[in-house]
Amino acid sequence: MSLDIMEKVAQEPGLKAWAETMAGKLDAKMRFAVKKANEVSYIPYSTENGQWKENRIGWWTNGFWPATMRQMLLQNGKSLYRDEAVRAESMLDDALRDFKNLSHDVGFMWLIQSGVRYALEKNQDSFDRTLFAAQTLAGRYNPCGFIRAWNGEGREGWAIIECMMNLPVLYWATEVTGDPRFSLIAMHHADTTMKAFVRPDGSCNHIVIFDACTGEFLSNPGGQGYESGSSWSRGQAWALYGFTLSYLHTGKNEYLDTARRVADYFISQCPDGLPRCDFRQPEEPVVLDNAAGNIAASGLLELSRTVPESDADPYFDAAIRILKAQEAGCADWSEDTPAIFTRCTSAYHELQGRHIQMQYADFFFVEAIGKLLGERMLAWYPNRV
Ligand code: GLY
Repeated sequence: MSLDIMEKVAQEPGLKAWAETMAGKLDAKMRFAVKKANEVSYIPYSTENGQWKENRIGWWTNGFWPATMRQMLLQNGKSLYRDEAVRAESMLDDALRDFKNLSHDVGFMWLIQSGVRYALEKNQDSFDRTLFAAQTLAGRYNPCGFIRAWNGEGREGWAIIECMMNLPVLYWATEVTGDPRFSLIAMHHADTTMKAFVRPDGSCNHIVIFDACTGEFLSNPGGQGYESGSSWSRGQAWALYGFTLSYLHTGKNEYLDTARRVADYFISQCPDGLPRCDFRQPEEPVVLDNAAGNIAASGLLELSRTVPESDADPYFDAAIRILKAQEAGCADWSEDTPAIFTRCTSAYHELQGRHIQMQYADFFFVEAIGKLLGERMLAWYPNRV
């Protein structure tokens, strides 16, 4: 038996009321966010002076805005969300056309919005975009056992932890084409990630550099975290959610065990529900990352309904603790700014990227609230509508 999240929420009237209040606030804020997005001709990434700020069209986060619109549409059916999702999906075609500059992040960019649209509307263009994304990701596979993360000379052997969240587009491609190669690549990468990234205590590396010809482990730079050997919280969040998804797609118990090990570690590191950017950063200054918190919270909810019901409570309770703490301390529901969460951090050592707004942190909050209110549709396995 596994946990039915909606039933559990229904048994806790205070939590149900909180989730419903959040859903109402999200609708009001997102209507404003769409209005601001319609004043500009780019996909929202961050914010500046009360307006959305962009990144280049091929930037890895650009699928999260249309994916947020898809989640809002699922939650309340309003056509403004559909219109905005379609508008942003079309804008992203410029990135597809420039495919040689895409990274491994194509699951983030297409599965969670074009894949969802295809599942619901059977739109052929959305299917083509998502399958093309999967093909480019498969094309990054190194038979030594990993998917190459980034482009650029000297990075042939670089793999990164967030790739675990892009694997679902490969599982999806096997499901829609019947060709097992996509899933086999995903599992080969996940197996390598279990061995080379996840440490015995459940913490993980952000980056691992392999010899691109032999697969030999060369080094583990600090990446967006504090230093080599530290524990970048967003990386831990990607891992706990990503291994849960790989388990859901494959049924391989090692992936679920790994997700649980990372989740147990994550929970132990933020008893106040406010994850630091790196769990091993110096005590001062206090650098938070709300994106890590919301990704982890949505991942923990997913994990709570994946493990046996008797094991679910610690994951469910931690998710609620994080969502409530971050909302209480770091959410801006006003119309001073189009995004919600204010203490996101792009990378520990990027000083101008500390405590900024990053739109995808809002996506994971929307997703988590949807789960509390009974939304089964998940961006990461759209075929299971
Ligand atoms: N590089 C992906 C992230 O910042 O989480």
